[in-house]
Amino acid sequence: MTERSFVAIKPDGVERKLTGEIIKRIEQKGFKMVAMKFIKPSQELAEEHYGEHKEKPFYKGLVEFITSGPVVAMVWEGKDVIATIRKMVGVTDPLKSDPGTIRGDFGISIGRNIIHASDKLESAKKEISLWFSQDELVEYTPTL
Ligand code: CMP
Repeated sequence: MTERSFVAIKPDGVERKLTGEIIKRIEQKGFKMVAMKFIKPSQELAEEHYGEHKEKPFYKGLVEFITSGPVVAMVWEGKDVIATIRKMVGVTDPLKSDPGTIRGDFGISIGRNIIHASDKLESAKKEISLWFSQDELVEYTPTL
């Protein structure tokens, strides 16, 4: 099914200059970029984004971290893009992520795991509308 996923390169990924590498992997897989922006998330945006983790012991640190520096926020489109990008990202803990995945190749810390990607259709829709306005989602038809 053609769908859209929200992906964010977190402050550690930006600081470690992994932005190009990550975008390259997703582009070369064949997915279509629909939106991208470079922003330092506000407290409100971060709290809303991580709302489902509100009761978790790591919630405060998580919000502090995601607001600590710039993030590359993106929307990608394609067939089964949500599950496929999750596969390309690896599991939450980079030490448990397989080599070949983004977290498996570049990370060692669960709290500094480089990238976020939507886990299912419902969260993708919620995250896309939280991070982007409708006119930031670029409509175009690839010709190649
Ligand atoms: P993400 O995919 O952005 O979604 C929730 C985030 O919470 C997750 O990546 C991790 O960065 C973070 N997280 C999950 N479990 C822990 C944990 N045990 N300690 C610290 N951070 C965590």
